Amino acid sequence: MASLYHFPKSLSQNRHICARSGNPSHSSHAIVSRNFASQGNEFPCFRIGVAGNSNQTEALSDSAPVFDVPLLSCSEAIERLRSSRENYKGKQKFLAMYSSVFGGITTDPAAMVIPIDDHMVHRGHGVFDTTAIMDGYLYELDQHLDRFLRSASMAKIDPPFERETIRRILIQTVSSSKCRKGSLRYWLSSGPGDFQLSPSGCSDSALYAIVIQDQYSPDQKGIKVVTSSIPIKPPMFAMMKSVNYLPNVLSKMEAEEKGSFASIWLDNDGFVAEGPNMNVAFVTREKELLMPHFNKILSGCTAKRVVTLAEELVRDGKLRGISMRNVTIEEGKNADEMMLIGSGILVRPVLQWDEQIIGNGEEGAIAQALFNLLVEDMKLGPLSVRVPVPY
Ligand SMILES: Cc1ncc(COP(=O)(O)O)c(C=O)c1O
Repeated sequence: MASLYHFPKSLSQNRHICARSGNPSHSSHAIVSRNFASQGNEFPCFRIGVAGNSNQTEALSDSAPVFDVPLLSCSEAIERLRSSRENYKGKQKFLAMYSSVFGGITTDPAAMVIPIDDHMVHRGHGVFDTTAIMDGYLYELDQHLDRFLRSASMAKIDPPFERETIRRILIQTVSSSKCRKGSLRYWLSSGPGDFQLSPSGCSDSALYAIVIQDQYSPDQKGIKVVTSSIPIKPPMFAMMKSVNYLPNVLSKMEAEEKGSFASIWLDNDGFVAEGPNMNVAFVTREKELLMPHFNKILSGCTAKRVVTLAEELVRDGKLRGISMRNVTIEEGKNADEMMLIGSGILVRPVLQWDEQIIGNGEEGAIAQALFNLLVEDMKLGPLSVRVPVPY
């Protein structure tokens, strides 16, 4: 079998070594060749093969299948990271990153990496949260920070710093990025150390943060959702924002495969739960704003703020009340309005759930009013929800 581990001792002196694969169709052969081809051949490379001793490598004929894997210096690897980023399909720009591992902030995207032995990478032992940056303010930073630390505690991650220090680092990272519109995403991890299951070999927990520029304005156009066939996470895991988002990713992919925007989870008792990265709310025929409570799902910062802002609609007589309780699928599908709520989408009306048209099939007045209230709150709300960034 092909092995990339048995490098002859002289490898560091000899930068071109050729050897053959026992099975030319072996997948590792294909992968290495493809990666190499896509990166160009501007660096010295090894032509690495398979079995046998190092003498055999000299004897290989030109027709033998070969691996061409370059051995890179640190600066060459960084240079490749930089150029591979330029080829990314995504349009998002990463403006600054903080890492407690290197103990500072960088604005060079090539350096925005985390160690592979970090247990968040290879064991999923990490939690995260996101805060929107709007016109130079961090929206609901403290609310997200509270949830972040709650998630860390549930995941038994002891943060490397006190809350105030984390807060200061996050604000300073945004300040260094000069970003005025986008999002700040941050992680707490059990940290680098080894590849064991237990984090006991990790010397320190780690904090990472990244600033993502985003000029996008949330869409208010109504969307379609489907019921997720991917199992929902058990409450203990759904209530913390850990990095284990595989069910969420599969659920989103399922929706996209069905031409929908999101899949909606039902909980194990069949009640409406949440979407893969958003909460769900309804306006009943009696004009009540209805939301599943947060005892089995993620406590959404945006949904909680929407509940507070919706009180204005109750005062104006547009809503008769607000309620958080179990919601059956029938109640949800027969509602006047349905909407998704989250910091990424704000408030997005749902016009169809599976085959069921919601209400009259058009964007509803309450979803629109809540969206407007939320945008106004992000731009002009009190300082309890808007933390100014000192640029
Ligand atoms: C599973 C899940 N539910 C709900 C939400 C909405 O939370 P928030 O409003 O704090 O963004 C998110 C956000 O990412 C989420 O991942």
